[in-house]
Amino acid sequence: MHPTRRAALAAVLAAPLFAAPALAQTQITIQHALPLDSHYGAGATAFKEAFERATGNRYRVVIQRNDNEREMIESVQIGTLDCTITSTGPVGNFVPEVRNVDVPFLFRDYDHARGVLDSEIGQQLLQRFSARGLAGVVWMENGFRHLTNSRREVNRPEDVRGLKVRTMENQVHMRAFQTLGALPTPMAFSELVPALQQGTVDGQENPIPVIVANNLNQVQRYLTLTGHVYSPAVMICNPATLQRLNQADRTAFMEAARAAQKANRDRVSADDARGVEELRRRGMTVTTEVDGEAFRSALAPAFAEYERQLDGALLRRMREWRPN
Ligand code: PAF
Repeated sequence: MHPTRRAALAAVLAAPLFAAPALAQTQITIQHALPLDSHYGAGATAFKEAFERATGNRYRVVIQRNDNEREMIESVQIGTLDCTITSTGPVGNFVPEVRNVDVPFLFRDYDHARGVLDSEIGQQLLQRFSARGLAGVVWMENGFRHLTNSRREVNRPEDVRGLKVRTMENQVHMRAFQTLGALPTPMAFSELVPALQQGTVDGQENPIPVIVANNLNQVQRYLTLTGHVYSPAVMICNPATLQRLNQADRTAFMEAARAAQKANRDRVSADDARGVEELRRRGMTVTTEVDGEAFRSALAPAFAEYERQLDGALLRRMREWRPN
């Protein structure tokens, strides 16, 4: 036999009888605004690991960073992006009912906030997303927000007066800062650091895990633990992405989303516990003793407005919620 033909025959005989077909993978892309090493990154990674494992790698989850949350929600809505994990900052501009969970001093602590969002109240809010061409999959978490600025120590509500504070593109938050006498300046997170560097704004407010993960200590000297508002996050997907999954994969998807929620919340708790010390170590002046009652009183006119313009009955239900 000609040596070339002999080699070809040997290759055929050596090939496994039932060679495994190349694995057809469907890609699901999920974007969020923070570094991978953050509470959103922890959630997205847990989702990826759980969903890929449960589907035997028929799906590949790709995690990307995009620090413009409004843009991500728009992309999910038009279907050029599968999913996002986003704070509720801009979500009320798409699903107005969500504005109710953005009210300052609504939740006493993490247990209260997580309890309400996991209860029927939170589930009903997630169902509202479908009327807006979005699928609200699971509540995640950003954390209690605190104020930082480059001008002065903030001890009392009066100290906030006159500060130019970057807020999220969120009417509820903007109203609160206006009521305190600040000059709220809404912008996407992507614009924040240049705005702080150039002095377009004096301050910003975000949870400790965000301040730590983004090194905001490099552009802000003072941190006050105002905890003025709980900042929920939510995993939102394009409805068609979910509809394409068969029943078993959809169950796996929801289980992976719950794993993401747990990993995300655990990371917020851990970062909150060690973050303040870390920010002090990095040179920030931290004000820990904050008169919450004084801030609540100063916000009274805003609260009256929320009662009228949002869903007063829902706000009461959330405020008065207790675990069973
Ligand atoms: O400040 C914001 O815009 C949000 O808290 C952030 C940092 C994008 C996380 O959701």
